[in-house]
Amino acid sequence: MRAIVVHETGGPEVLLLEDVPWPEAGPGQVVVRTQAIGVSIVEAHMRAGILPLPLPAVLGVEAVGEVVATGEGVDQGLLGQTVGGVTGATGSYAEYAAMPAAMVRPVPESVSAVEAVAAGAALAVALGLVRRAGLRAGETVLVEAGASNVGGYLIQLAREFGAGRVVATAGARDKRDRAEELGADTVIDHREEGWTSQLDGIDVAFESIGGDSARGVVAALTPGAGRMLYYGRLSGLAPAVTPDDLLGRGVSLVGCSGPAWFQETFDVHYPEAFARLADGRTTAAVGPTFPLEQAAQAHRLVEERGAQGKIVLIP
Ligand SMILES: NC(=O)c1ccc[n+]([C@@H]2O[C@H](COP(=O)([O-])OP(=O)(O)OC[C@H]3O[C@@H](n4cnc5c(N)ncnc54)[C@H](OP(=O)(O)O)[C@@H]3O)[C@@H](O)[C@H]2O)c1
Repeated sequence: MRAIVVHETGGPEVLLLEDVPWPEAGPGQVVVRTQAIGVSIVEAHMRAGILPLPLPAVLGVEAVGEVVATGEGVDQGLLGQTVGGVTGATGSYAEYAAMPAAMVRPVPESVSAVEAVAAGAALAVALGLVRRAGLRAGETVLVEAGASNVGGYLIQLAREFGAGRVVATAGARDKRDRAEELGADTVIDHREEGWTSQLDGIDVAFESIGGDSARGVVAALTPGAGRMLYYGRLSGLAPAVTPDDLLGRGVSLVGCSGPAWFQETFDVHYPEAFARLADGRTTAAVGPTFPLEQAAQAHRLVEERGAQGKIVLIP
């Protein structure tokens, strides 16, 4: 089968189209014939060596496709169903991908493979974040990188869950406009030095940029009640927040990743994300699509921050 293989970390040029053997369905796994493959900054960070990647590897985390094989312990009823989810680490930039059965969910018939891969993971994560935040009506919310995939759904859900004020950040002009269209009251340019000085009275901060700006965000949290939900590091750096930064304001930092987080994501939020796409409560933000062999171009676009909506590869 055709797959995008990485032998050494580096720029987009290390993504090579090769013929490789089909994956086997190991215990607890399904193999899907992929129909749409998600591209995210996570894979760009793996490819660049910022996140770990065991080499050589078929790159890729997200996919939607038809189940063509099931491994030991997996419900045979999944055969022939279209499912969407994640591989866990690698393997989705390919015509066939092995995925843990626990990390895929059936895609409703009325939802296309491209919509399902564009919105599945990001919307599920956004649902989990808004619920974990315990967002109360009237609260002020900060959505960092509001024009990112997760960020875009967070703005919409914050509104739906009753936020009183939604502050978002974004880079380029068109991304700031996008964040406003999605429902942000105020949009701050996070490429400006010292942008966090424009914040105050933030009850809930969805932290995805990481690095030094996170300390400025903590300083803007409501004393005694503010909470920062840390779920991503778009800058490649962990938030530079110390326990004393939290102690001084009596605010909390909640880590949103790890096995329990992902179990809830797949058990609860993925099915809800697909149901929302099917009944029209949420619209998938679909970005540019590329044929599988143009994975390097897709990665260039990710790194230029050039896309709005999810970048999708078609095998
Ligand atoms: N914990 C979880 O369960 C979970 C699950 C999925 C994703 N994540 C994380 O969530 C984050 C967002 O994922 P996504 O798929 O929504 O991302 P995405 O759509 O690929 O985000 C791309 C956007 O992020 C912004 N960005 C990129 N680098 C940045 C930087 N250094 N500083 C600030 N903004 C930057 C850019 O927007 P501008 O052009 O506006 O700057 C870019 O367009 C990632 O860190 C990812 O790892 C976490």
